[in-house]
Amino acid sequence: MFVCLCYGISDKKIVKLAQQQGIFDIRGLRQITPLGSQCGKCIRQARQILEETVVAQ
Ligand code: FES
Repeated sequence: MFVCLCYGISDKKIVKLAQQQGIFDIRGLRQITPLGSQCGKCIRQARQILEETVVAQ
């Protein structure tokens, strides 16, 4: 499922980046992807996915 439609970033990609690169917050994610820099509608959902990923680890 796409989280960021503007840049085509999926939930799977977010989880993968979080696990492989140790990203645990939106700031870290935005340093390596353009997520949220267009309309910003995806930020809340991306944050939630990151939180769930961190809790699950
Ligand atoms: Fe992510 Fe628009 S959906 S910036």
